[in-house]
Amino acid sequence: MTIDHLFFVYLCIAVSIIHTSHFRGGTITWRAYNKTPSGSTAFIIVREQWSWRNSFFTPRCSAATIAAKSPMISSSGNVACLNSSCGYFPNMSLWTYCTDFSGLADISTGEDSRTLSIPLNVSFSIAQTGSNTWAPNLVSGSTGAVNVVSRISTVLRPDGYINSSPVAMIIPVIYKVINVQHVYVVPVVDYDLTDSIRCRWATNSLTNINGFSECGDVCNGVPGATLIENNCTIIFNLTMANAYAAVLLQIEDYFNSLSTVPMSSTPLQFLFYGYSPISNCTTPPVIINGRPDRSCISAPSGVSLTVNVTAQVSCPGKSIVEFFTSSPVGLQKSSILNVGIDVYQINVNWIPTSNQSGPQVFCASAIDNTYVLSNQWCITFLVDSVAPVIIRPTPAPPVFIFRDQTLFSLQSNIFYLNILM
Ligand SMILES: *[C@@H]1O[C@H](CO)[C@@H](O)[C@H](O)[C@H]1NC(C)=O
Ligand SMILES: *[C@@H]1O[C@H](CO)[C@@H](O)[C@H](O)[C@H]1NC(C)=O
Ligand SMILES: *[C@@H]1O[C@H](CO)[C@@H](O)[C@H](O)[C@H]1NC(C)=O
Ligand SMILES: *[C@@H]1O[C@H](CO)[C@@H](O)[C@H](O)[C@H]1NC(C)=O
Ligand SMILES: *[C@@H]1O[C@H](CO)[C@@H](O)[C@H](O)[C@H]1NC(C)=O
Ligand SMILES: *[C@@H]1O[C@H](CO)[C@@H](O)[C@H](O)[C@H]1NC(C)=O
Ligand SMILES: *[C@@H]1O[C@H](CO)[C@@H](O)[C@H](O)[C@H]1NC(C)=O
Ligand SMILES: *[C@@H]1O[C@H](CO)[C@@H](O)[C@H](O)[C@H]1NC(C)=O
Repeated sequence: MTIDHLFFVYLCIAVSIIHTSHFRGGTITWRAYNKTPSGSTAFIIVREQWSWRNSFFTPRCSAATIAAKSPMISSSGNVACLNSSCGYFPNMSLWTYCTDFSGLADISTGEDSRTLSIPLNVSFSIAQTGSNTWAPNLVSGSTGAVNVVSRISTVLRPDGYINSSPVAMIIPVIYKVINVQHVYVVPVVDYDLTDSIRCRWATNSLTNINGFSECGDVCNGVPGATLIENNCTIIFNLTMANAYAAVLLQIEDYFNSLSTVPMSSTPLQFLFYGYSPISNCTTPPVIINGRPDRSCISAPSGVSLTVNVTAQVSCPGKSIVEFFTSSPVGLQKSSILNVGIDVYQINVNWIPTSNQSGPQVFCASAIDNTYVLSNQWCITFLVDSVAPVIIRPTPAPPVFIFRDQTLFSLQSNIFYLNILM
């Protein structure tokens, strides 16, 4: 073999590694279009959200491609049913509408959903398996194969309704300084108000509820971490700078705190990124929006709505360099505006479409020029093409409680509302 041939072989290997190690996390969630059963089938909306290395794409995801909803982004593979006998779930491609991108982290995120008619009284698992691999610089898991597995069930709940899965409200990468113990609470909502939510690590054990490996080659991606299952809290240390730790969770909803079999199992895969401290002032920036984190606002489809996200730096001389976001399809963000001393803002504009009816979540977190990340701020837009029917008006334990505020909760046939009094 000549030097030229060797060089050619080397190039091919290099290119194929670059082209496959670009997965950065994702989730597959689902909900009933109407929670009240009627007939022998139910419409189920399955939503996939994937993050990738943005420089993998030509063109990259940008403000322009988000606004145009084109081109879509994808990699090879699809979401397929793990049971050969579920013909009602045709393969779902990984093509998504790009919704968010980060220049700093070189990550883009996309989302798409599909409405399917599924027979009542069936349970099955769907998965992205084996076609993609993770980032190369993982502290544990060595660029392993991606498996993302979600369990759907149309078996009626003990209360007679059709279930919906929990949804995590999260940005794809969380920057944390190394060699310090951190506590990260994964914010989760469930549109079935009274469900008991538990989180567990994804496992390779075939005795898990999915009967399949949920973590491929990146099980135990955060060495030494502890997970508190009842409140989805991760206690961990990062020890390697400039490296990712892959967090692979299954978030499961139980009918009540005594139930032992979950009604669904939702994968949530995201990254911690470790960095060496750059500055002695480590006080994080703060999102100072008027609305509390995790509030709900109504969003009529076809109507333009504007929200500002404002962050303040807490250390002298620092600035906000980016807002990490997770957005519904079509939501547009301005570039960063320096609107006051130490105060930075992005303007968010969105016209929901009628096929986005139901709850749509937007989350943001600001990062300063020394990589210190702010608190995360999320808002749920209730896009209303269908008037909700109240099915659970009695007082029930609220899913989230805002400090110093009175909360009133309603469960409808589509979602629940939290009303601040
Ligand atoms: C569906 O996807 C699976 C897994 O990627 C693949 O093995 C199967 O051939 C696909 N089926 C069809 C009909 O494309
Ligand atoms: C596949 O589906 C069939 C029919 O619904 C069911 O009997 C079987 O247990 C399922 N297999 C797995 C592995 O889930
Ligand atoms: C659902 O399936 C279970 C067992 O597979 C069966 O016992 C039950 O009768 C079914 N319910 C309905 C409403 O079809
Ligand atoms: C994390 O690192 C800190 C500081 O080095 C140490 O005190 C703590 O015990 C470590 N925690 C874990 C869970 O390793
Ligand atoms: C999570 O639960 C543990 C154990 O019940 C508790 O000690 C901790 O304070 C809780 N954390 C949060 C953020 O609620
Ligand atoms: C942090 O503080 C130490 C001790 O006061 C000082 O030597 C060092 O230069 C400071 N580092 C930075 C990045 O400001
Ligand atoms: C958002 O901020 C801009 C200035 O950057 C201001 O003109 C606008 O009124 C704000 N909009 C809302 C809804 O707060
Ligand atoms: C939703 O509607 C918009 C325009 O109304 C269209 O561009 C988009 O493809 C639709 N999305 C889905 C998932 O049907």
